[in-house]
Amino acid sequence: MKNIVVLVSGSGTNLQRIIDTIENGEIRDAEISLVVADRECYGLERAKNQHIEHLLIPRGRNFSSELGRVIPENTDLIVLAGFLSILKPEFCEKWNGKIINIHPALLPKFGGKGMWGHHVHHAVIEAGEKESGATVHFVTSGIDEGEAILQKSFTVTQDDTPETLAEKVHLIEYEIFPKAINKVLNNVSI
Ligand code: GAR
Repeated sequence: MKNIVVLVSGSGTNLQRIIDTIENGEIRDAEISLVVADRECYGLERAKNQHIEHLLIPRGRNFSSELGRVIPENTDLIVLAGFLSILKPEFCEKWNGKIINIHPALLPKFGGKGMWGHHVHHAVIEAGEKESGATVHFVTSGIDEGEAILQKSFTVTQDDTPETLAEKVHLIEYEIFPKAINKVLNNVSI
């Protein structure tokens, strides 16, 4: 059985999807050993509701070192599911190849500092992009720069707003995140 630690900052619908796809077998042979939030958020409630061990480490300078202390050494994968703090380089190096993130755009476009959630969707509309999507990628010390694992796009229409993009991106995320996790954890081809 593989152990996953999930980091969240928000509503946690991607966390919920991971919980559900572990349960239905789409993600094979895995369990969530711990959910960590960097702020009060509904993601933490979801963990509580599912009786998954969870804890809050307030965001800030000491977040990565505190996180380093609580993550079990036998962790196979650290999954950033709508997680908004930047992890320190030392943390990323220690867990190199074992941290993945989901990003609400087609990286390398619309990534980097300040590019998260609705900011991304606003920027995509402003730039008049013809498509958007989501990317699951490895986490390295360069923000949103790690190798992509899985990416899927959709067409942006004239009527789209940042809100409709957020909804469409979420649907893509629910599709590709379990596949990417299964691929990294169990070497399952996509
Ligand atoms: C997701 O769209 C995720 O890609 C994004 O936050 C949302 C979280 O939704 N993450 C980032 O912007 C990180 N740069 P959720 O809390 O419902 O899973």
